Amino acid sequence: MAIKVLFVCLGNICRSPTAEAVFRSRVSELLEISQLVEIDSAGTAGWHSGSAPDPRSLQIGATRGYDLESLRARQVKAGDFDQFDYILAMDQQNLTDLEAIRPAHFSGHLGLFLDFADSSKREVPDPYYTSGDQGFHEVIDLIESASDGLIVRIKDQLV
Ligand code: 4NP
Repeated sequence: MAIKVLFVCLGNICRSPTAEAVFRSRVSELLEISQLVEIDSAGTAGWHSGSAPDPRSLQIGATRGYDLESLRARQVKAGDFDQFDYILAMDQQNLTDLEAIRPAHFSGHLGLFLDFADSSKREVPDPYYTSGDQGFHEVIDLIESASDGLIVRIKDQLV
């Protein structure tokens, strides 16, 4: 049985697609778990549904070795709680919004992605309204760290 991981931010065009691409890249390098983990992302808002990631996330992700080209935004739905084992929010507002639609029977892990990171930060800052590249690089730095921590947890579960 695969472990299914869903990353969630607000628009699903900056942070959570970056998390999807980074985590997928990391998992794909690990032969012992690469076939046992399924990964997706979604936004709490549906404003960008069907859209490609933000051009800055695409471009800066590519310079860091991550391919976001094929990803398309979608809105999170209550049914996701029946599909996914880990639902990981990028910030506290995303988590509050997810808790509001969490079914009582959900027995998976709903929490902040950065709880798995080696960082004192608890939230991935929203880079959408920032200028320049720095905010997008920081998003990747935080997501890389949290991805490594999440892999340790998932490996413990699987092997
Ligand atoms: P994300 O960033 O939640 O990391 O995808 C945002 C994308 C779009 C908007 C806000 C944040 N927006 O207001 O459209």
